[in-house]
Amino acid sequence: MSVNVIDGRQLAERLVEEMAEEVKARTGQGYQQPGLAVVLVGEDPASAIYVRNKIRTAEKAGLHSVVTHLDASCSQQALDKVVSELNERDDIDGILVQLPLPAHLSEERIINLITPEKDVDGFHPMNVGQLATGQAHLIPCTPLGCLEILKREVGDLSGKHAVVVGRSNIVGKPMASLLLQANCTVTVVHSKTMDAANLCKQADILVAAVGVPELVDRAWVKPGAVVLDVGINAIEKDGKRKLVGDVNFADVADICKAITPVPGGIGPMTIACLIKNTLVAAKQRGV
Ligand code: GUN
Repeated sequence: MSVNVIDGRQLAERLVEEMAEEVKARTGQGYQQPGLAVVLVGEDPASAIYVRNKIRTAEKAGLHSVVTHLDASCSQQALDKVVSELNERDDIDGILVQLPLPAHLSEERIINLITPEKDVDGFHPMNVGQLATGQAHLIPCTPLGCLEILKREVGDLSGKHAVVVGRSNIVGKPMASLLLQANCTVTVVHSKTMDAANLCKQADILVAAVGVPELVDRAWVKPGAVVLDVGINAIEKDGKRKLVGDVNFADVADICKAITPVPGGIGPMTIACLIKNTLVAAKQRGV
């Protein structure tokens, strides 16, 4: 089977270009320029790179952006104040607090504090509930990016068996909700699942989002499956640091119908969907 490697970068670039056109058209009609606020706490190098890429892409789409960088030792009160002020700002449509936060800060509290209308991560319980009941406006960016890819690679998802590896609030759970709404038969595999490999081997669509480097190998993949690799894991290999996914790409690529690489697969689509959510929020606010 020839390998169909899904180019997430190219797909994301196209989406961002389309959104840039939409932003231009909207501002031409007198609406304000959509605004994205990103809050970064501390000096985690990976988080700093993600934030930089998010801001760069927002600017490409014609959004205005605000970055607030707080010291790793900042208090919960100081972080709460930043978020509360962003909630009130009329020029800000979307707010994202980059996770993970330092251990002394409460992620749950911050997720609950962001006003649901500006929650472009889709993590607020109101947005989670709307997704679960099929009323979603703001859907978590990574699952949304996966769905965009699946629509293109698979088309109608109805009746497909989708297996999601991982049950995080950020990816696994919302991914399962989205696939269920697309009429897939959904199985969620996690650390306590018995015989995960055999369940995965029954999947037409396999989404790996578990954060274990190269966990999914040939024994886990049905020939002809579409495999989406959400993992981004930094490992040492042959004395060099490199990024790998949750899927052992070299081991499985030739039996997949299509597969996303790491890097350059789901990552860029996640950022494109953040911009999409900011536009959705701006339209919903009617500003
Ligand atoms: N850290 C890793 N992924 C994400 C994400 O999608 N949103 C936020 N806010 N933080 C993250």
